[in-house]
Amino acid sequence: PLRLEIKRWLTARSERVKSVDLHSTEPWMLVSLYNGTVMVWNHDTQVTSITHQENSKRLASIFYLKGFVCFEDDMLIKLWDWERKWLCSQVFEGHTHYVMQIVINPKDNNQFASASLDRTIKVWQLGSRTPNFTLEGHEKGVNCVDYYSGGDKPYLISGADDHLVKIWDYQNKTCVQTLEGHMQNVTGVSFHPELPIILTGSEDGTVRVWHSNTYRLENSLNYDMNRVWCICGRPGTNYVAVGYDEGSIIIKLGREEPAMSMDSSGKVMWARHSEVEQASLRTLGDTEVKDGERLPLGVKDMGSCEIYPQTLQHSPNGRFVVVSGDGEFIIYTAVAFRSKSFGSAEEFVWAHDSSQYATREGNNVVKIFKNFKPKKTFKPSFGAEEIFGGFLLGMKSNNGLAFYDWENIHLIRRVEIQPKHIFWSESGKLLCIATDESFFLLRFLPEQISAAQESKERMTEDGIEDAFEVVGEVQEVVKTGLWVGDCFIYTSSLNRLQYYVGGEIITIAHLDRIMYLLGYIPKDNRLYLGDKELNIISYSLLLSVLEYQTAVMRKDFCTADKVLPTIPKDQRTRVARFLEKQGYRAQALAVSTDPEHKFELALQLEDLITAHQLALEAESQQKWRQLAELATTKCQLSLAQECLHRAKDYGGLLLLATTSGNVEMVGKLAGGAEKDGRTNVAFLSYFIQGR
Ligand SMILES: *[C@@H]1O[C@H](CO)[C@@H](O)[C@H](O)[C@H]1NC(C)=O
Ligand SMILES: *[C@@H]1O[C@H](CO)[C@@H](O)[C@H](O)[C@H]1NC(C)=O
Ligand SMILES: *[C@@H]1O[C@H](CO)[C@@H](O)[C@H](O)[C@H]1NC(C)=O
Ligand SMILES: *[C@@H]1O[C@H](CO)[C@@H](O)[C@H](O)[C@H]1NC(C)=O
Repeated sequence: PLRLEIKRWLTARSERVKSVDLHSTEPWMLVSLYNGTVMVWNHDTQVTSITHQENSKRLASIFYLKGFVCFEDDMLIKLWDWERKWLCSQVFEGHTHYVMQIVINPKDNNQFASASLDRTIKVWQLGSRTPNFTLEGHEKGVNCVDYYSGGDKPYLISGADDHLVKIWDYQNKTCVQTLEGHMQNVTGVSFHPELPIILTGSEDGTVRVWHSNTYRLENSLNYDMNRVWCICGRPGTNYVAVGYDEGSIIIKLGREEPAMSMDSSGKVMWARHSEVEQASLRTLGDTEVKDGERLPLGVKDMGSCEIYPQTLQHSPNGRFVVVSGDGEFIIYTAVAFRSKSFGSAEEFVWAHDSSQYATREGNNVVKIFKNFKPKKTFKPSFGAEEIFGGFLLGMKSNNGLAFYDWENIHLIRRVEIQPKHIFWSESGKLLCIATDESFFLLRFLPEQISAAQESKERMTEDGIEDAFEVVGEVQEVVKTGLWVGDCFIYTSSLNRLQYYVGGEIITIAHLDRIMYLLGYIPKDNRLYLGDKELNIISYSLLLSVLEYQTAVMRKDFCTADKVLPTIPKDQRTRVARFLEKQGYRAQALAVSTDPEHKFELALQLEDLITAHQLALEAESQQKWRQLAELATTKCQLSLAQECLHRAKDYGGLLLLATTSGNVEMVGKLAGGAEKDGRTNVAFLSYFIQGR
């Protein structure tokens, strides 16, 4: 599927619309109504200016600045030359019923096509009074016609009262395809000037979107404005205007997810329509980069792609890039963008080591290739509706996910889960399986596989039970993700950029729109993301912190200690809190730079000496009181006494003095309490001593 995002951009209510057009540079929509009125809408400000019939020709000339304007009248077509005061300079004869629409060939401005209720389409040359040729095939009157503007196909499209849409090759003059589906007369047809789609409108009230290469129906849009009368796209934009019984609308069509990929050296490649472009982060040099801002990158053209790219992915080693779309894939060399291999596939995935890849075809057939040569073709017994690359080959079907090893295509494990994405860490020891509701973090244990394969005992029909171990589950929807060490970085459905490590989620940024993770460049300490408009944005994320957290997760404190000095001071407390959550309080105490946090940790660790030192530095009664309590429970009575004293906690001191039978202490307490106006404690102290 094309995965298009379709948005209504403007709604302009009016009486019945006869034709619509979009200006080539200004944000203007020209609408002409059956009642003789012409309107111009500014679709940025949504303001309209209404003009009456007398002005319509002047207005029309704003839209058709150069050349001619053609109007049809009954069975004739007339050519009006606006430069010569709207002189009718030519008449074209041949149709035997009303002419409904004409369109000029964008590749040859001397040629135009006409649609007529006489059931034919005729193609004309300027300068010749009679048609060049006629296309016959519709069984009822033809209402609309359009030329395909791409360079590769000499195609025309027509829509008629027989409810059909036909696509014609006007060089060999044959009908190459008929699109069936509309329930009523077809009134408007348009090849989208940018996207590989055909739009058709009908008196059944719908606008249908078809793939222009596969002719598959992609979408049917109903905006409830009654019958459709006309459709118009504008080259260079994704806007399409549609005229109805009750007004006109502009819809904006675009890719849902950009076809974009980054290799580990920072080269980003993407497809703008069918053109592939590349930019290198290295060209940024010392340019100061701010979080969340678009990077000013120089763009290099790589060439044009023969298919309309829906996805673009670098091989893990960065040497190749695969483009897939329209049921096909092409592998190019990443540097020269030379085609290396191609084939048909609904989906394409790389193995982690780049030497193998798998494709999936429509009918559940999976093909594995090694060094670009087919290695195995098979139809998994569980089915394959979607495949996933990485350390193992994942296949999704109705009843779950099955993992196979790349070498022998043996079943490793079947899990009852419906994944949307699978992300493997670079080491292959960890993976994230993201579903529509949450994501799971798992540990992959290859050593269990060889053990099980040897003994054959632990092999069940669902594979090897112990091949994976669940480490965590988070109730969040992952959109895009990647691993750095043992940290899983992702964008969520709530547009948050976060990472998960050891059960903890750390937010890096709140994004203001949907963005897609491209990669992490360790030497820049930055994460790179792309958006639908093909902008590249970055956020800072310190490698030292990620490395430290990874080392802690692996219980490798030797590496952790080596990394620690490279973590900036202002990040140390964050790291310490992470250590604390992982249960490493002593390490956290050593790393933290926040006195409050350190004191808390010292208390938890019952480290009276450190806590005493921190309390002395802080001079807070609250801390002395907390420490007194701990000292008491640890029977450190002289420390407890000092703390209670510094906290001016006379009640506590009285209790301590009396329970420990310390007469001298009671004596001192009586004087101190009296001086501080704590007469209750003073009275009791004197009373006990018989004074
Ligand atoms: C035609 O319709 C437009 C918009 O619906 C309206 O503003 C205009 O007055 C109408 N003109 C006539 C002549 O009825
Ligand atoms: C059609 O147009 C071509 C030139 O584009 C011309 O050579 C040919 O004679 C024309 N045929 C007719 C039937 O007019
Ligand atoms: C005409 O050309 C199309 C390709 O544009 C081809 O599919 C079709 O078979 C051709 N028809 C004839 C009769 O040559
Ligand atoms: C469709 O076109 C026919 C003429 O071919 C016309 O009689 C009919 O009313 C049209 N349908 C609608 C819904 O207007």
